[in-house]
Amino acid sequence: MSNNTDAGDPSPAVTSSSPSSNLHMTTTSRHYFGSSTENSDSFCITIVESMKEDYGLFVWPCSIVLAEYVWQQRLRFSGVSVVELGAGTSLPGLVAAKVGSDVTLTDDVNRPEVLANMRRVSDLNNLNCNVMGLTWGLWDADIFSIHPKIILGADVLYDTSGRIILYLWFFFHSDKLKKRFLLCMYLLAFDDLFATVAFLLQNSPGSVFITTYHNRSGHHLIEFLMGKWRLKCVKLLDGFSFMPSTKASGLSGNIQLAEIVLNT
Ligand SMILES: C[S@@+](CC[C@H](N)C(=O)[O-])C[C@H]1O[C@@H](n2cnc3c(N)ncnc32)[C@H](O)[C@@H]1O
Repeated sequence: MSNNTDAGDPSPAVTSSSPSSNLHMTTTSRHYFGSSTENSDSFCITIVESMKEDYGLFVWPCSIVLAEYVWQQRLRFSGVSVVELGAGTSLPGLVAAKVGSDVTLTDDVNRPEVLANMRRVSDLNNLNCNVMGLTWGLWDADIFSIHPKIILGADVLYDTSGRIILYLWFFFHSDKLKKRFLLCMYLLAFDDLFATVAFLLQNSPGSVFITTYHNRSGHHLIEFLMGKWRLKCVKLLDGFSFMPSTKASGLSGNIQLAEIVLNT
């Protein structure tokens, strides 16, 4: 898949391809924010992606939606500390850095190639983001040192193997006991993420988790996890409700944006 996001600027998004050091072909895509004619503060972010679809080396649609939201809410992001979880190619975090946030980009500590690409895109865009390995549900020393006001997460409620379809099929064809078991199995996949989010929200009073996700199975899963981790949703938007038409036309699916805080 490629991401040609060029709102406000007609220039082509994907500009070049070259073999990278790990022998995967890479491509660069350009993402525009603001209209160069209307806004003097408009800018472009360049992202390096792997041409082999890889979860952390590809700009997922949720990231395009979240990055646009950060741009539209840029006054709120100016001067605050931001952490992006499961950042991958890091578009939302890079936009936050561009509008004046102090940004830490994080991804799975076991994915050095993703972390290396995060450093690369930060440098490429002349930004000074911190890059940190942060695996959800693990409590390394580093996590205690970060106190974000805003936590970002694009497409971090995802399923790597299409298991959701399998679970849903079994769910509707099983008796009550099996249904409970299957639901528990599915919830476990996202529990680590919510454990990390709840920890960061507690560690930084007044902070908020802003996430975009594909709403494939209704909000039951998120509602269950928010209840478990004593969180509440304070804002829920259809991603397409605020996307400029030039960007929305390149996206598909039911993408939601939620703002989540501690339920104190
Ligand atoms: C679907 S990709 C989304 C990447 C990026 N946010 C985007 O939207 O383009 C999910 C990301 O979560 C990261 N991830 C998966 N499991 C993780 C874990 N247990 N801890 C930290 N990061 C994880 C992956 O490496 C990947 O970058």
